[in-house]
Order: sequence, then C-alpha cells, then structure tokens
Amino acid sequence: MKKIIVTGGAGYIGSHTVVALAEAGYLPVVIDNFANSDEGVIGRIQSIIEKEVSVHKIDCTDESAVKEAIEKEGDIAGIIHFAAHKAVSISVERPLAYYRNNVGALISVMKSVQSLENFSFVFSSSATVYGQPDSLPVSENSPFKLAESPYGRTKQICESIITDVIASGLLMKAVTLRYFNPIGAHPSGRIGELPRGKPENLIPYLTQTAVGKRTQLTVFGDDYDTPDGTCIRDYIHVVDLARAHVLALDWMSVQCHSSFNEVFNVGSGYGTSVLDAIRAFEKATGISLNYRIGDRRIGDVAVSYADVSKAKRCLGYFTRLSLEDAMRDAYNWQLKLNCFSR
Ligand code: WQD
Repeated sequence: MKKIIVTGGAGYIGSHTVVALAEAGYLPVVIDNFANSDEGVIGRIQSIIEKEVSVHKIDCTDESAVKEAIEKEGDIAGIIHFAAHKAVSISVERPLAYYRNNVGALISVMKSVQSLENFSFVFSSSATVYGQPDSLPVSENSPFKLAESPYGRTKQICESIITDVIASGLLMKAVTLRYFNPIGAHPSGRIGELPRGKPENLIPYLTQTAVGKRTQLTVFGDDYDTPDGTCIRDYIHVVDLARAHVLALDWMSVQCHSSFNEVFNVGSGYGTSVLDAIRAFEKATGISLNYRIGDRRIGDVAVSYADVSKAKRCLGYFTRLSLEDAMRDAYNWQLKLNCFSR
C-alpha cells in the first residue's frame, strides 16, 4: 500500500481525507499538533475504516520534527498538506501568527521532502485566492485578485512558493486543490466540523441554530446583485472533496513527468444563495430555521462558484452527494456534537 502523510489529518477536511485514502487502499499517516482538533478524532477515524492509523503529534512549523517523522515512516509515496489556520477573522486580528504558521508550515514540509524521489505533493488551497472573480464560473486561469484576508493571502503565497520550488528544478509532482465551500460531515456521524466558539461559516452556524445552541442565524445582507439578494457560493460535500484528493493522487501516480505543478478547482460547479441553502436545509431536515436578514459582512464577495471541468477531464472528478445530503449530514453531526456538547 502507498503510504501518504496527511498533515492536519485530524482536521475537518483532513480527517475525511484520511478515511477516503484508507478506503481507496492507501496507507494514511497523520501529522497533526491538535491545535484546532481533538485527539478523539483519530479513534473515530479508526472506527470508520476499522484500521489503526499512525499519528505523529507534531507542529508542521517544526522542520526537524517533520523530518524525523518522515524518516521514521520510511517509504512515503506522497504528502497531502492541510495543516494551516483557516479562520478568516482571526487572520485579520493576528496576521503574523497566520503568516508564520501557514507559510512556515509549508516551507518546513517542502524542505523535509525535497530529497524524496518520485514524490507526490498535494496542497490544500482555497477559492479565496481568487478574491472577487471577474468572470463566472471561476476557472483555474482566473487571476489572483486581492485576497479578502491575510488567511487568503497565505494561500496565495503558499501557491507561489510551490510554483517557484518546482520551477527551481526540484523533482516533485505537485497538485494544488482550490476548495470552494466544504460543508457537511461523514454520513456515519463520527467525524465532522469542530468549530471552536462562535462559528464563522454559514453551515455550522446554521446547524447550531437548528439545535438551539444559537438563537438565530443572521443572513449577512440581501442587497447583493443576485437573484434573491443574498451571496452565492459553491457548496461541496466534504466527502466528495475528500475523494478529490484520492483522485489527484491516483492521477499523479500515472503521469510520466517526474516534475509538474497542476492546479484544480474542487467544488460542485453550482452556485447556491444563502437563502437557497437555508431552504435546502429545511427540506432535508424538516426543520424551520429561525433567521433574520442583517447587514453585509465586510470582505464577502457577492458570487463565487467553480468551473470544475478541468478536474472532471483530468481526474475523473464528479460530485456524488447533493446539497441536501450535505445539510442532512451536517445536522446529523450537530446532533452528535450536542451529545458531547460542542
Ligand atoms: C458563506 C456565505 C456569508 C455566516 C470562507 C472562507 C474560505 C473558505 C470557506 C477556508 C457568505 C454567509 C455566513 C453567517 C451568513 N475557508 N453567511 N451568515 O465566506 O464563502 O468562505 O469559508 O478555506 O476561505 O473565506 O464561507 O460559510 O463564511 O459564508 O449569511 O452566519 O454565508 O455572508 O455569503 P465563505 P462562509
């Protein structure tokens, strides 16, 4: 089995990707400092895949620790690098912490693997690198615009670092996946998003409102230039997103070039407004959601959804789960979280 290091493998997307890797016959190994996840995730991953998962509790900015973990693991076919902070508002308050952590971790991981041969490197990026796109749907050729936050800028910088490292002649197969809006949870209800404190993102705030943890969801503005006035996003079930990482590794393993750097959008390819998302939740769960229309949130782009034709053409990627599947699974996960009051 091909061994794949998953940095940030205890996180939201990372944990679902560890499951998808194991189910696809890979041997995932987790590196995580558990700064933004809890160690119980590992046991719950193991209960889903019915296998042990090797874990290294280290911080990816600690280059010697990363190198030591990689040497310990031995024959590694690739790395999927998720480990990063991702809270937009905190990145605005603490930009240096975000640059040090997100950019520092990438540099540390890339330096740790540069001597490995025939190696696949998958980087976790975000549609936020596009800023407010000029044309829709957003394609991989869309230019980087001014990112809406230091978090977004760390993703832009990291992508540029990867480009420069590959251009410098380092023999590595690199793929960057630009995620649109990951939502939902594993259908088993054993893993999902673990927001700490007040959720920034729509779906966890919505599900917390549905279970009474929050009193009311505020829709951030209904005066945008969209059909119903609310912002439009491309929501993708996290299980479909996780599977895209497996497809990327499969694709990389059959490429004849020893070094390349490819970027793929990963989304549903469809735009959904905030009000549509609320209606999809209500339809999937039968729950009437308590919400109000409030002011716009600074930094929000009006419309963003993906052109996923390149991933479909090259990776054979397609979504299997619907928006309502994601809403159902998100709510089911929230009910489980309520059991251990998160
Ligand atoms: C979605 C829509 C809000 C909360 C962010 C990051 C991006 C990526 C995904 C990491 C927007 C509206 C939200 C609420 C609302 N993360 N909303 N009420 O902003 O598209 O993207 O998460 O990679 O980098 O920027 O996602 O879920 O925060 O917001 O009306 O309480 O829901 O205005 O239109 P976003 P989001």
